[in-house]
Parts: sequence; structure tokens; C-alpha cells
Amino acid sequence: MTDASSLFRPTTAPKLENITIFASGAGSNASRIIDYFSNSQHARVSLVVCNKPGAGVISIAEKAGVPVLIIEKERFLKGDGYLPEIREAGTSLVVLAGFLWKVPQTLINAYPRRIINIHPALLPKFGGRGMYGQYVHESVLNAGEMESGITIHFVDEHYDNGDIIFQTACPVLDTDSPESLANRIHQLEHLHYPLVIDDLLKEQL
Ligand code: GRF
Repeated sequence: MTDASSLFRPTTAPKLENITIFASGAGSNASRIIDYFSNSQHARVSLVVCNKPGAGVISIAEKAGVPVLIIEKERFLKGDGYLPEIREAGTSLVVLAGFLWKVPQTLINAYPRRIINIHPALLPKFGGRGMYGQYVHESVLNAGEMESGITIHFVDEHYDNGDIIFQTACPVLDTDSPESLANRIHQLEHLHYPLVIDDLLKEQL
């Protein structure tokens, strides 16, 4: 006799989560995230959004076969935020990795606690408008900090302000230049960002 429960076992494949990365710089974090999820059964990077034609991240995405959407300021900030294209990519999580424009309210409303950012310092210190790239590391060194680190946080309507998801620290050495500190921070970012994204997606499955 057939066990009735076996007849009704679901046969559909597990849902594949689509990650959209917003990046406009060299793209080293985007590269790590794309690589990490190319081996995943449950998530992949389905779109890279970039506001800088010629940015390094564009060729990284293209080599990996990830579509790239180049965006313009007026429509992004004052129009529909490119929400139709982002939805079209099946996006369930938006990951900022070196993206400097403020995220418009349209996108924040469409993806509540589904947009995250990485910041190369220990927020709430050394964050806010104008605090990006070398400016962050120069400020950390000028302030005589003994440690710096990375912060991964949800994005809200203010710069570097949403709830913190993850932080980890590294030492600041007497001999550090902004470049050497940036390299140490980048290593932390590359190690942790894909793992934190993966954990977030698994929690929300
Ligand atoms: C990273 O340091 C990140 O913290 C900041 O922008 C930088 C992007 O670097 N938000 P990359 O383009 O991923 O190399």
C-alpha cells in the first residue's frame, strides 16, 4: 500500500534568491560576492547597478556574466529609482558595495530591511555624508584611533545610519598610512561581506 504522505511531497526546487549589487568603484567587494554566490544553491547575483560608466566593477560583472544597469542621477534620485528594472531582476536583497549616492525613499519603501551597506570603519564613528574611501581612513589616523574595522548595516534615509548587522575590528598601527589601513580593511570586507549576506538570506528564507 502507498503511504499517502509520499504522494504530496513538494517537488518544486528551493527558491533562488536574487541579489542586486549597487557599486560604482573598483568592485573588489562585488567581485567577491559574485564569486561566492556562483557556488550557491540558494542565491546568486542577478544584477549590478552602477552610476559611473567606466568603473572597474562593470568589467568584473560582465566577465562573470552578470547584467549591468548604468543609472542616471535624475531618474534615480527624483524619479522611480529604477525600481521597475530592479524588480524585473527578481531582486530580494540589495547590497551596496562602494555606492555613494543616497538611496531614494522609493527603494527604501520597496525593500524594507532588504538594502544593506558596508562601511570601512566602526560606525557610528567616521560615518555620514562625505565619509567615504580615503577620507575615512585619513580621519581614523588623524584621530589617533587604536582600532578601526568594518560595519555592515541596513540602509535607511540617512547616510550610514541604519541598524547595524555586523561589525569587526582590526588594529591601527603607528606605521599605517591611509593606504595600508585601507588594505587591511578591504581584507576584512572581502572575508565577511559574502558570509553576512548569506546568513541574512538564510534567516529570511
Ligand atoms: C569599500 O571599502 C566599502 O567599504 C565602501 O566602498 C569601498 C568599495 O571598494 N563602501 P570596492 O569597490 O569594493 O573595492
